[in-house]
Amino acid sequence: MIYFNKAPWFFCAVLLALPTTAALAGEARSGYEYIKPASRAMQDDDFENPGLLAVERGQVLFNGKQSGSGKACADCHGEDGASLNTRDLARYPVYNEDAAEIVTLQKRISRCRDTNTGSKPLPTDHPDLVDLETFVRNRAIGEAVNVQTDGPMAKLLEAGEQLYKTRYGLIDMACYHCHDVYPGQMIRGQKISQGQGNGFPAYRLGTGEITNLHQRIQQCLTLMRAEPFAADSEEIRLMGLYVMSRSNGLRIETPAVRY
Ligand code: HEC
Ligand code: HEC
Repeated sequence: MIYFNKAPWFFCAVLLALPTTAALAGEARSGYEYIKPASRAMQDDDFENPGLLAVERGQVLFNGKQSGSGKACADCHGEDGASLNTRDLARYPVYNEDAAEIVTLQKRISRCRDTNTGSKPLPTDHPDLVDLETFVRNRAIGEAVNVQTDGPMAKLLEAGEQLYKTRYGLIDMACYHCHDVYPGQMIRGQKISQGQGNGFPAYRLGTGEITNLHQRIQQCLTLMRAEPFAADSEEIRLMGLYVMSRSNGLRIETPAVRY
């Protein structure tokens, strides 16, 4: 864990003194390549990866009847989601033409749950929704991330990129600085990665929790001593979309193990 509260200026000075030749060459690399070998081994071992507990919880929720309702996701999508299309799952977040908005995988699940099972709606990032999201995304493990970048998405991605390059918080840095300029540099024992989205939801060793992409972005904003974007805000959706689009072509690793 990185602590900025004592001397954010010191931390910035260290980073800003680094050579800018470390700038990203343009090739997307998974966070997997930056974590410690022990964490990679943990991710690769189905008995050791703690994120698989979230997958299992999501599986139980998926196959069983939703609380207060006679319907299970599996009634329509097959046992264990056998009839879900993994290529489609790799496209999230998607653009919904009718509502003219970005729809994350969790939002799609949550809406399907509300309209098709009649169960009581759950708030965004409720643990059950994160578990369902983890389970469903895990169905598409190995698929290449394939977020739409043309059509109506082009403008939204521009807006997302702008947010990504904006300086936030006490440390007055942009996401771009750490994740595009400094990948490979160490911060307090952790290697900075490109901040890719392909492993999410991921299990974080630092917090001991399964964490989806929006939550991870919120945690980075907190690290920056900035006010995190609210759940469901336009900002978090634009940022989530932009971050995931940077991962286009990378294999889905859900549930990845990350520090
Ligand atoms: C009564 C049937 C029904 C139930 C129950 C149901 N769904 Fe769906 N779901 C659908 C239909 C119909 C669609 C739209 C299919 C499409 O777009 O091709 C859909 C779409 C989805 C999608 C988007 C798939 C894609 O290819 O983009 C996901 C993810 C999903 N549902 C997850 C769930 C989960 C998780 C649950 C349980 C909480 C659930 N659904 C319950 C019928 C159902
Ligand atoms: C001061 C440096 C710093 C800044 C600025 C920063 N991050 Fe991070 N971020 C980290 C560190 C350190 C990690 C954990 C190690 C890693 O994966 O890079 C991390 C992890 C991530 C991850 C997870 C990557 C993975 O594969 O697990 C994402 C996504 C991410 N950051 C997005 C962002 C976004 C979006 C912003 C801007 C709101 C941001 N970060 C700003 C340092 C930073």
